[in-house]
Amino acid sequence: MSTFKAPKGTYDLLPPESATYLAVREAIAAPLRRSGYGYVETPGFENVELFARGVGESTDIVTKEMYTLTTKGGSELALRPEGTASVLRAALEANLHKAGNLPVKLWYSGSYYRYERPQKGRYRHFSQVGAEAIGAEDPSLDAELIILAHDAYRSLGLRNFRLLLNSLGDRTCRPVYRAALQEFLRGLDLDDDTRARIEINPLRVLDDKRDSVQRQLKDAPMMRDHLCEECKAFHEEVRTLLTAAGVAFEDDPRLVRGLDYYTRTTFEFVHDGLGSQSAVGGGGRYDGLSEMIGGPPLPSVGWALGVDRTVLALEAEGVRLELPPTTEVFAVPLGDEARHRLFALVTALRREGVAADLSYGSKGMKNAMKSANRSGARFALLLGDRDLAEGVAQLKDLESGEQKSVALDRVVAEVTATVR
Ligand code: HAM
Repeated sequence: MSTFKAPKGTYDLLPPESATYLAVREAIAAPLRRSGYGYVETPGFENVELFARGVGESTDIVTKEMYTLTTKGGSELALRPEGTASVLRAALEANLHKAGNLPVKLWYSGSYYRYERPQKGRYRHFSQVGAEAIGAEDPSLDAELIILAHDAYRSLGLRNFRLLLNSLGDRTCRPVYRAALQEFLRGLDLDDDTRARIEINPLRVLDDKRDSVQRQLKDAPMMRDHLCEECKAFHEEVRTLLTAAGVAFEDDPRLVRGLDYYTRTTFEFVHDGLGSQSAVGGGGRYDGLSEMIGGPPLPSVGWALGVDRTVLALEAEGVRLELPPTTEVFAVPLGDEARHRLFALVTALRREGVAADLSYGSKGMKNAMKSANRSGARFALLLGDRDLAEGVAQLKDLESGEQKSVALDRVVAEVTATVR
């Protein structure tokens, strides 16, 4: 062991488990690629103000969870705690919204950082795949994104997840609701911190997990009873489209998300096998965010799915993904000349697209065969002195134990045909 360990709240992805993470990222990305979303990559850090203004000064993410740093040049930066503000910043900076082709549809995949109290499913470094549709106020986009997330989970074989859906209103009806909620909350028996929260971010009080608070919230006014006609119609259309696509959802009037930019549609996918960190993904509409970070009005919607928690959900359901073998053929040379010949054959096989590996170092036959078995390869390609003299190699099926001689100049063609 080295003197160092991975920092608290982080973990390393190592083979063979790391292959599952790659497959999950790919499964989430595949439906997006088929639906007009282009890949975007932004820096791992941004100006701290972007998140303060975008995610919200009063959110836990900004007040407690950001990794911030001052550069030698005096810039205040933050490791990105989420992707939406960065992606919108990048789209605005590149004027993608001016190309006359709205919405701009983008997807991304990467690492995010939050200084949270670590526990199972909650890490300080985690991985998301996300999607944003920027610049259109159309309920079919909200539905499209939700359906794509749902289909991605289903394509992975997940069953025990639920979709919670809510509307948080817009700049017309939310302020009226906010005032009504504040008035209600001010009349409750709450501690000082929570009382302070009523003034800054009253909706977050609804999300308080403590029984003593929840008990008092039974008669709290609900956003859904305060939605304006436009928001009501918009939400109804999202619900209709989801139902038509066979995507089940639960109306959750108390669903409040931990980021301040949401308007109208908000949603979360929760998995029932994950305990307290049950949200495997979430998102919603953020019609005002562009203006909050200095851009023009650009109503938008998006989501991010947590890769770490999706992998935990697969484990909880006992789903094993069918992953392509990392090695199809494992070559075992006996002697220097055989090594040279097999090295060349392995290179040629790889160039043909066959996943091939070789026993390296001067291992004896027994240890080399152990490596072959451990590699997961279906076939071993053996070459010894006698084979060389006869101009053949031995192709061994490691499952059945059958073995056959193949002429050295036919190896690439035969092996390629056999593994296909
Ligand atoms: P979020 O709900 O903060 O939304 O994160 C999305 C997902 O990332 C969560 O549902 C969870 O699966 C995963 N996640 C978040 N924090 C952690 C953590 N500490 N450890 C492990 N997994 C975590 C957003 O980030 C928004 N940007 C989503 C969005 C996109 N809204 C609109 N567009």
